[in-house]
Amino acid sequence: MQKVNIILVGFGRVGRAFYELLKEKYDHYRERYGLFLELRAIVRKSGTVLLSGTRKMVSEAESGSGEKSELSGWIQTFSLADLLEEFKSGVLVDCTPSDLKTGEPGYSLTKMALSQGWHVVTASKGALVVHPSELAAEARKNQLALKASGATAAALPTLDVGLHSLAGAEILAIEGILNGTTNYILTRMADGLSFSRALMEASEKGIAEPNPVQDIEGWDTAAKMIIIANKVLGTEIKMSETRVHGINGLTEEIMARAAQIGKTIKLIGRCSRESPGAPWKVEVGLALLNPDHPLAMVDGSNKGIIFYTDCMGYVVVTGGKSDPRGAAAALIKDIISIYWRDF
Ligand SMILES: NC(=O)c1ccc[n+]([C@@H]2O[C@H](COP(=O)([O-])OP(=O)(O)OC[C@H]3O[C@@H](n4cnc5c(N)ncnc54)[C@H](OP(=O)(O)O)[C@@H]3O)[C@@H](O)[C@H]2O)c1
Repeated sequence: MQKVNIILVGFGRVGRAFYELLKEKYDHYRERYGLFLELRAIVRKSGTVLLSGTRKMVSEAESGSGEKSELSGWIQTFSLADLLEEFKSGVLVDCTPSDLKTGEPGYSLTKMALSQGWHVVTASKGALVVHPSELAAEARKNQLALKASGATAAALPTLDVGLHSLAGAEILAIEGILNGTTNYILTRMADGLSFSRALMEASEKGIAEPNPVQDIEGWDTAAKMIIIANKVLGTEIKMSETRVHGINGLTEEIMARAAQIGKTIKLIGRCSRESPGAPWKVEVGLALLNPDHPLAMVDGSNKGIIFYTDCMGYVVVTGGKSDPRGAAAALIKDIISIYWRDF
């Protein structure tokens, strides 16, 4: 049995889902993996709350007390550095916004946590797109984990497959549907809805973020593919080197014409190179898929990824629909993978 201190940074849609899932499945993590996952503090832009640990929170909730009071004492005075020092070691979980230009706030808080001996598990893409090599080196130097399942299509296993399941095989190319919002919009447009109606529906169902520009213009897909490529292939691909086209501008007429010729339109992120030894490139854009393409049937807010390899054929994973609970589950999977010996 092992006790794991957790500090959660960011308490929006994903941070809240993480907090709820941790409490809901606390006993399962203990019984199945021998891990006491103890949430010690939540830090958000507007303040910090210190907690008594998940076990105490769960028992207080069961006895009918706690629950509301545990989140009532938000204060401004605690710095993250003090919290990291106070609890000495554990996992920092980053659920802050993804800024793909500056990498902040994820960059500063990841660097601070790694330099103070904490593992980092992140749902946020910015820091890993802007400063991938520096952060990977910092983690390696301190023999710590920097895990990013939550930032790379979350509930859909991508990094786990590329790094572990395909270890030893040479990966020749990767392609995927990595954004649930755009895949939902395309699925509904194929049903006959206009772009704006499909987007409105995605927002009403809580699939699209309040500001879905990064999704619609393809930047979110590009960021995820860059992180996957950099980690799985050891590349150092930058966003500035990436060709990105989103789904904006797509009309019902184009969708109908694709259907007439028996094809499906999908937003695909791709990492490939022209020949062995040539530089790897990431590109994102709309693709016309034949019905027998492994990603053609990925619908709604589901996602999918294909790894083309030299000795394991092509390996496809699909599913893992986008939502904050799925992202929270991916964060917890990464924490388990750090500490559970049988992983
Ligand atoms: N939504 C999804 O389904 C999903 C799935 C996978 C990955 N992601 C990624 O997960 C991350 C979080 O997404 P979300 O939808 O939960 O975002 P969100 O609802 O906008 O929440 C962001 C949280 O970050 C906090 N925050 C912002 N700046 C901060 C700073 N400098 N220091 C500490 N906390 C700060 C905010 O604090 P306040 O509450 O005080 O404003 C808020 O609690 C994003 O990077 C997103 O791309 C999201």
